[in-house]
Amino acid sequence: MGIQITPSILNADFAALGAEVARIPSADWIHVDVMDNHFVPNLTFGPTMVEALARSTDIPLDAHLMIADADRHAPTYVEAGCASVTFHVEAAAAPVRLAREIRAAGGRASMALKPATPVEPYEDMLGELDMLLLMTVEPGFGGQKFLDLVLPKIRRARALMDKHGVETWLQVDGGVSLETIERCAEAGADTFVAGSAVFSADDPDAMVNALRAKASDSRD
Ligand code: DX5
Ligand code: ZN
Repeated sequence: MGIQITPSILNADFAALGAEVARIPSADWIHVDVMDNHFVPNLTFGPTMVEALARSTDIPLDAHLMIADADRHAPTYVEAGCASVTFHVEAAAAPVRLAREIRAAGGRASMALKPATPVEPYEDMLGELDMLLLMTVEPGFGGQKFLDLVLPKIRRARALMDKHGVETWLQVDGGVSLETIERCAEAGADTFVAGSAVFSADDPDAMVNALRAKASDSRD
């Protein structure tokens, strides 16, 4: 899999999301951060809003669910039009069953790990996942500082994927910018979420392309 850049709309103008997404035509995916004020101390939007956004763009949606009781709610986001749905393993009672349900509903199944959650316990279920998301900040807010302490886990996750020969994408999310993306790519990430770096740029679409170029360079 090549490098993919997935801007997060968390720091975009929520009153004009359709227009904000239209500013980043070069994005491979649009990352939508769903928060419930329970799993994380912040509240964003739910399936109705996501469904409206899906109708407003041809770019596929990558839902990142930072919500409790993921088992119950995640398949709803496939029905709402998300091509990829990420649940947090810390919020899932039965992650294998849930990943299978997301796939059965027609979505790409993805599982997220907070910075302090180890990857090794999930080695045997990597084949159940289309993507693994390693958070590089504590989830909840955009604009936080990138946590370098996650880099060794990115390397270990990549090694486990190589060992098992799986096609699982490896996504990083949190504090990804022109300053930090090379470190993530060198460690083995291939899918990059960037929120404030993209939406605080004068030209968000140029930033998407600059991030992609930088990540691609460091993988050569
Ligand atoms: C944080 C979210 C991220 C966030 C990234 O909990 O999951 O997707 O929007 O924003 P930046 O790139 O500003 O860290
Ligand atoms: Zn996110």
